[in-house]
Amino acid sequence: MSTPFLSVRNLHVDIETNRGLLKAIRGISLDVNEGQSIGIVGESGSGKSITLKAILGLLPKNARITSGDIFIEGQSLFELSEKARRQLLAEKIGIVFQDAIAALNPVLTVGTQIAEIPHRRMGWSKEKSRERAIELMTLVGIPEAEKRLKVYPHQLSGGLRQRVAIAIALSGNPRLIFCDEPTTALDVTIQAQVLRLLLDLRQKENTGIVFVTHDLAVVNEICQEVNVMYAGRFVERGNVQDTFQDPTHPYAYSLLKSAPDMDHQVERLFSISGEAPDLTKTFVGCPFAPRCFAVSDLCRTTEPDLLPIRTSLSACHHSQNYLDKLSEARA
Ligand SMILES: Nc1ncnc2c1ncn2[C@@H]1O[C@H](COP(=O)(O)OP(=O)(O)O)[C@@H](O)[C@H]1O
Ligand SMILES: [Mg+2]
Repeated sequence: MSTPFLSVRNLHVDIETNRGLLKAIRGISLDVNEGQSIGIVGESGSGKSITLKAILGLLPKNARITSGDIFIEGQSLFELSEKARRQLLAEKIGIVFQDAIAALNPVLTVGTQIAEIPHRRMGWSKEKSRERAIELMTLVGIPEAEKRLKVYPHQLSGGLRQRVAIAIALSGNPRLIFCDEPTTALDVTIQAQVLRLLLDLRQKENTGIVFVTHDLAVVNEICQEVNVMYAGRFVERGNVQDTFQDPTHPYAYSLLKSAPDMDHQVERLFSISGEAPDLTKTFVGCPFAPRCFAVSDLCRTTEPDLLPIRTSLSACHHSQNYLDKLSEARA
């Protein structure tokens, strides 16, 4: 097997909060191959954004990685100097975050901002960087790119600003794009355009995607693999087709199957009764046990590992029973 483009191994992240030490990420592993598109879903607070920030070295000051390792093309990030690590990440991974629009600099023209990485970091001439900015703006579907080089972010609509943010994310020719709810703030039409753009990029440039969202329909549309996050861990991982068809973890099932159709799944995500455990407190057993329809005594004492089942991975003591019942019911 070839080395994955990105590999995360048993990552733990703690956050100091005023309620105590929060075990936000409790041992996650993830591989992303060249050109692969991966979705990470889960309810608010499950640890999706902290996962991405930990990988990118963008954790808030009160958070730190306590153990684990992160590799890009086989190179451990922790064996590099701070400077070399930043350089490598900036070179290989583009970022489109939910607040991407806010991250735009209001006093610089969009052209300057898009040309900045090619000019400053890749050492391209002003002229060549400007050409590249026009090319990127055209690629992300900003009409009249050449004219718009000179405008400031506030002169553009929300949709166009999000495209500028994506153009910036692409300006260093990343091999992988991290998207954290990049379309949440956008209206549906523009959302669809941004997703199409990301799909296009994958097809044309084989750019990998890690897409964090609470919107399952989006994952279904653009991802090959889905990871379901719950209480700082992945509880299910599988290819999108199989997982959406027959989820193996009761939480994933509750997310995916209780919905009458795709359009209602997002609402449903927030309608599973009960709450995830408070990760500043120690708990025993499966963190989903109090909310689970398949709970047993074992679940209340032992937290299950993420283990292979069928074509997926599932962190549930009862996945096999559940799948057996399902196939019985179908027979
Ligand atoms: N800067 C912070 N200070 C304290 N707690 C934080 C901070 N950022 C995130 N958290 C907590 O870490 C957990 C995971 O958050 P996050 O990764 O942002 O969740 P989400 O899955 O919604 O992206 C949550 O409990 C959240 O409240
Ligand atoms: Mg988040």
